[in-house]
Amino acid sequence: MRIILLGAPGAGKGTQAHYISKALDIPQISTGDMLRAAVKAETPVGLEAKKIMDAGQLVSDDIILELVKERLKHPDCSNGCLFDGFPRTLAQAEALKKEAVQIDHVVEIDVKDSEIITRMSGRRVHLASGRTYHVQFNPPKQEGLDDETGEPLIQRADDEEETVRKRLEIYHNQTAPLIEYYSGWASEGIENAPKYRKIKGTGSVEEIRDRILGVLTSC
Ligand code: AP5
Ligand code: ZN
Repeated sequence: MRIILLGAPGAGKGTQAHYISKALDIPQISTGDMLRAAVKAETPVGLEAKKIMDAGQLVSDDIILELVKERLKHPDCSNGCLFDGFPRTLAQAEALKKEAVQIDHVVEIDVKDSEIITRMSGRRVHLASGRTYHVQFNPPKQEGLDDETGEPLIQRADDEEETVRKRLEIYHNQTAPLIEYYSGWASEGIENAPKYRKIKGTGSVEEIRDRILGVLTSC
């Protein structure tokens, strides 16, 4: 099964992808996590992406498509995968279609911008795994430490309020058109069109996980 999780920055894509990929035994492909790993390793892609990411802008389609194409060659993708943060532009969605990567489900996680600002200020991340916490809404068992490794959690450089606002603006301009793109495709009844579902992204992490698993297993 191949699934796209669509939603604004901070909608909870990474948090949910962690659970859904475990439940369905498919890998999570997070372009954001891949880029952060490249930045940390100071690879050529990482060096180019760092400034763009810190400013809350989108990395070029070419770089992203190259990363994703390489990742999809890995044998762990043979049973499917869960895209988190990709595609992010119409050009990326079109490229995926052109590569004949069959998508079965697109799940949109819907959260208002005002809620997102609160979420981002409390986010803490385990950089190596991408596991995500919130100091208030989804705290780790031990303050400041990852549950599975005990390693320290960090605050992302792009989580400053001003940068979050910029990322939201870019989301509405460049990524939100994918909602119409995928939901229109699904409603036209075209063969092989992915099923499109919008779910409410507020409530507890567990409630949202159950909503997503519910729509994935109900059809
Ligand atoms: P990326 O890492 O993909 O960032 P994003 O899409 O902006 O999304 P986030 O990771 O910020 O949010 P999320 O939806 O995963 O929410 P999370 O689960 O963490 O991309 C980073 C950058 O890389 C981009 O800005 C861009 O520069 C570049 N990039 C990446 N992909 C790209 C692409 N395809 N094309 C071009 N550029 C690309 O949750 C957020 C917080 O809320 C956490 O603290 C969490 O604990 C908390 N939370 C989660 N669920 C709940 C809940 N139900 N209630 C309360 N709090 C909750
Ligand atoms: Zn994320």
